[in-house]
Amino acid sequence: MRSDDDPIIDHHEFRRALGCFATGVAVVTALDARGEKVGITISSFNSVSMNPPLVLWSIANSANTFDTFINAEYFAVNVLTIDQHELSSRFASKDIDKFAGLDCREGLHGAPILPEYAACFECRTEHRYDGGDHTIIVGRVLRLDDRDEDPLIFYRGHFHNKGAPKSGDS
Ligand SMILES: Cc1cc2nc3c(=O)[nH]c(=O)nc-3n(C[C@H](O)[C@H](O)[C@H](O)COP(=O)(O)O)c2cc1C
Repeated sequence: MRSDDDPIIDHHEFRRALGCFATGVAVVTALDARGEKVGITISSFNSVSMNPPLVLWSIANSANTFDTFINAEYFAVNVLTIDQHELSSRFASKDIDKFAGLDCREGLHGAPILPEYAACFECRTEHRYDGGDHTIIVGRVLRLDDRDEDPLIFYRGHFHNKGAPKSGDS
């Protein structure tokens, strides 16, 4: 018999309620074992600790890029700008050349850095934790760059395409 500690949570309701929590959107990148560039769109990025500087994100155990990110010693979190919906969709697709035509530069230990971003966090993997059908990856931030751009915001399954109010906006 089910108890209050073991309730049936409706999948659809759960997703819908989680959608109230607005997030940014990032493309996490790394190099795979053959040195090929790998990337995935995520919204599960968050801060963990200021000292030491730690961040986390989670990856679906079913993602094609799972093995790469679980084994990657270094990765970069490219936080997307308000104009980068197309890149978000591209890196959320499967079985395409996600980096086609993108002039990335090499970050620390080769992790690809997108040409444009709102902020970029270059990290070394510190911990990996079981998170049900996802795995939580905690990274130590080794280098960061903040370009002071409006970020892409995602909630209720959609992108929010209004920038932050500028001074003078009514
Ligand atoms: C806005 C947005 C946020 C996403 N957040 C995550 C996430 O935090 N973790 C994750 O594993 N997948 C997330 N996804 C889904 C992956 O981007 C998607 O499954 C992708 O196809 C995985 O690529 P891969 O199979 O090549 O690894 C998100 C997708 C979108 C559009």
